[in-house]
Amino acid sequence: MRRPFIAGNWKMNTDSHSGPELVKALRQGLAQVDMSKVDVAVIPPFVYLAQVVNAARNSRIAVGAQDIYYEPKGAFTGEISAAMIKDVGCNYCLCGHSERRHVIGETDELINKKVAAAINGGLLPILCVGELLEEREAGKTNEIVERQVRKGLEGLSAEKAAAVTLAYEPVWAIGTGKTATSDQAQEVHAMIRELLVKLYDKSFADDMRIQYGGSAKPENAAELMANEDVDGLLVGGASLKMDDFLAIINASIPA
Ligand code: PGA
Repeated sequence: MRRPFIAGNWKMNTDSHSGPELVKALRQGLAQVDMSKVDVAVIPPFVYLAQVVNAARNSRIAVGAQDIYYEPKGAFTGEISAAMIKDVGCNYCLCGHSERRHVIGETDELINKKVAAAINGGLLPILCVGELLEEREAGKTNEIVERQVRKGLEGLSAEKAAAVTLAYEPVWAIGTGKTATSDQAQEVHAMIRELLVKLYDKSFADDMRIQYGGSAKPENAAELMANEDVDGLLVGGASLKMDDFLAIINASIPA
């Protein structure tokens, strides 16, 4: 049984006051939750990581970064290494979020290097994949998602790749209010799991958690999570409203 994993991607939002306040409210809300049944993480902007880690201390709330660079150190102005993220007290990092793929222009090759660097640096990467609207309309969803998963995990042994969480986030559903239907999500998640059987083996595929992301909210969380292959949610906008994020977490815990 895969334990649900709900992560809140704050993107370029919050500040030095509101970030820790969100964590405070999350801690209070989670006091009523059986934390052996769910994993929860928040993913703030780099500059607030230390404060958020501090606010989350001695709780079951994990903290992640929204990106890393793959080199360990050196002359890479503006970049942040896996070791730095680890040093500040984080466990997770996103790799290949759609906004980095499509706004910043990251390639599968670069994302693959980041996933490997995260694992080698002791972090747990959340590898994000997902098709554009025109790719879905052209019937290319599986082809695109398969390529992103294959390339993202390229060169990683089963032992290393076990550190990864996958996040299927159809780009057309991100920040648009237009969630994939439960069937659309399940279809792609099942395809990804079959691909993992081919790339590794059945037990590897059975253990890997695959989150859904894209306008996840309290109203659709339970239905999405009811799918056999949906193991968690990567939540953007709704993770900034603590009542919504808590409702999503509660809706994701199996009865
Ligand atoms: P959203 O973002 O929930 O605001 O659609 C999801 C994400 O980008 O991870």
